Amino acid sequence: MTDTSFDSEVSAKAADSGANASAQFQERMAAAGGRSGVIDTQRVSYLAGKVIKAINDTVLDDKVSYEEYNALKAWLIKVGEDGEWPLFLDVWLEHSVEEVANADREGSKGTIEGPYYIGGSPELSWNGTIPMRDGEPGTPLVFAGQVRSVDGRPLAGAKLELWHADDLGFYSQFAPGLPEWNLRGTWIANDDGRFEIHTLRPAPYQIPTEGACGQLIEAAGWHAWRPAHLHFKVSAPDHQLITTQLYFPGDPHNSDDIASAVKPELMLDPQDNPDAEGEITYYDFVMAPEQ
Ligand code: DHB
Ligand code: FE
Repeated sequence: MTDTSFDSEVSAKAADSGANASAQFQERMAAAGGRSGVIDTQRVSYLAGKVIKAINDTVLDDKVSYEEYNALKAWLIKVGEDGEWPLFLDVWLEHSVEEVANADREGSKGTIEGPYYIGGSPELSWNGTIPMRDGEPGTPLVFAGQVRSVDGRPLAGAKLELWHADDLGFYSQFAPGLPEWNLRGTWIANDDGRFEIHTLRPAPYQIPTEGACGQLIEAAGWHAWRPAHLHFKVSAPDHQLITTQLYFPGDPHNSDDIASAVKPELMLDPQDNPDAEGEITYYDFVMAPEQ
């Protein structure tokens, strides 16, 4: 395969990821009964008015020209055409929404979900191996630990959903050509709340660059990188769901994640695995009771 054909394969996959993220989000909202219309009129008026005023203030303060206004209009149209609203919002806004949502929750830190979660991944036992292709590239990684309540009680039967990108930064069901559940799985903790997940260390991830979000990044002279990360949703009866991501020390993008989703509490400490090829890392999830 030549470099050019590899590049075009990569960018075709990235383009599909944007459109699929929009379709997936719409399906989930429809399945949840279409939540629009539940936010009351006063609140909509207050929030929409505040955002519109903030934009107007920027135009007035910074003397935005017609040329800049039309560039914005064209770009907003393109975000929709490219199906990139989930990408744009999850990269540049979700971190603040998550901060507000979890400000008072005790236990392990959360962070953004991002656009690529799919529920219902294959269920594995407490020490199962994530679904992957034969010869899936990447360093083997064992991710082991315990799920506990904030009072220290182990949570037997806790559910851990893990999803992560492959070695090229692609997520199954969003980039074409990958098996449906590649690098996605659900583990059920054992009677001690323990789990031992067998997977691969993910690679750093670049958000799709050839669509509207990439156009903004290029026009502004920014970069498109997220540090390598593992996404988790951890749930247990009578406890609040944790949606989080975990990161690897030394990744050059831990300090300038485009999605602003890295927190010091979310850093892993992988070591050479003494019992098998690859690495092992330990992390416990501490869950807050339902309020
Ligand atoms: C995006 C992708 C991710 O994998 C993630 O964790 C957050 C955001 C994105 O492309 O928007
Ligand atoms: Fe991600």
